[in-house]
Amino acid sequence: MDALGKIYNVASIVTMNSNNKLNGITVAWITRVSIKPPMIAISIGKKRYSYTLLEETDKFGVCILSKEQKELAKFFGSKSGRNTNKFENIDYELTKNGIPKINGSVAFFECKIVNKADAGDHVIYIGEVINEELLKIEQPLLYGEHQLL
Ligand SMILES: Cc1cc2nc3c(=O)[nH]c(=O)nc-3n(C[C@H](O)[C@H](O)[C@H](O)COP(=O)(O)O)c2cc1C
Repeated sequence: MDALGKIYNVASIVTMNSNNKLNGITVAWITRVSIKPPMIAISIGKKRYSYTLLEETDKFGVCILSKEQKELAKFFGSKSGRNTNKFENIDYELTKNGIPKINGSVAFFECKIVNKADAGDHVIYIGEVINEELLKIEQPLLYGEHQLL
């Protein structure tokens, strides 16, 4: 047990489409950062394939996961899009902007990247919410104490 493990977050899958290359990454380092306009910040490791793709595009999706999607969180958080098509057997649809939305999520946001900040071995992307959907009235999957809860 350590002090940083006490910072609890929602578990999400951040999705993207760069030149028709789809990918998704499990992200627990995510938070709201503005009310008006609504904005969400995500922290992405510089070694992730998703970082390479986010540098090539201007939008990302955020799927807030349900407690039934724990295995999905583990899958998107252990494989890399560099050598796996993570969407191959996934139930999803594309928004009109081509961003993947994973079915079964509790909520979905589509964000336009408006700013970014260097953060050690990660980069924080700040996205303005351009589309939001509440899909299920239930508590989402959480990440705290270094585990999915
Ligand atoms: C529960 C969980 C939370 C994670 N949170 C983050 C995160 O906030 N930021 C990040 O860069 N990686 C996070 N990861 C690790 C990435 O999801 C993982 O390295 C993934 O395989 C990267 O995929 P990619 O190479 O296709 O981008 C998390 C993994 C798990 C299992």
